[in-house]
Amino acid sequence: MVLYDALVSPEILAAINPKAEKINGGKRRGRHSLVQSETTQLLIEKAQTNPVVVRLKGGDPFVFGRGGEEMEDLIQAGVPVEVVPGVTSGIAAPAYAGIPLTHRHYSSSVTFVTGHEAAGKYRPEVNWEAIAKGSETIVIYMGVHNLSNIIGQLQTGGLSPDTPIALIRWGTTSKQEQLTGTLETIVQLVFDTEFKAPAIAIIGEVVNLHRVLSNFK
Ligand SMILES: C[S@@+](CC[C@H](N)C(=O)[O-])C[C@H]1O[C@@H](n2cnc3c(N)ncnc32)[C@H](O)[C@@H]1O
Repeated sequence: MVLYDALVSPEILAAINPKAEKINGGKRRGRHSLVQSETTQLLIEKAQTNPVVVRLKGGDPFVFGRGGEEMEDLIQAGVPVEVVPGVTSGIAAPAYAGIPLTHRHYSSSVTFVTGHEAAGKYRPEVNWEAIAKGSETIVIYMGVHNLSNIIGQLQTGGLSPDTPIALIRWGTTSKQEQLTGTLETIVQLVFDTEFKAPAIAIIGEVVNLHRVLSNFK
């Protein structure tokens, strides 16, 4: 039995054994197929009647994928779990766009951060100003809807309006699209081109390498 998410590619879904039961638990913004408690409940139930249950997620299950939460619930319910790591979209999408996240001349540090914090969580908010000061490359998941606010805070933290930014949508798939600009121009470009989520944003000097490296893919 396979319970899969919205961002799993059709190629991967096509490789699933046709005899296996497949359930779409996919969540896209504003369209929750299953709420989190239903997902874990379903996994626990299916684990009672199936020899193997696969929870299939896009990217890496432990990077903004709620893999940790689901695993905690399963362990609490006495279900043994094995994790198979994946290549997170924050690494895969820039690589496919010719953007190295680190580079000896331009960036010695990377921060992976969410632009969409879970409602009702009891941790302090992302400290964008500290990230602006402390990281040379910034990779933002789920940031398109909140981009203008995030950019404002990064600039308050010291990033110049000229800092390069790339947005990569549907990275690594045949539908991959990218938009590049600067902190000053990107919000208008998103509006003008009607650029939509799901996308990864990459901020920092390494984005400029895209012009050179993407030609040689
Ligand atoms: C809930 S997070 C899941 C991240 C996933 N666990 C991973 O490791 O890539 C969903 C966000 O990941 C990013 N994302 C996932 N797949 C993507 C892709 N193929 N291209 C661009 N961004 C992607 C987007 O920011 C999207 O809103």
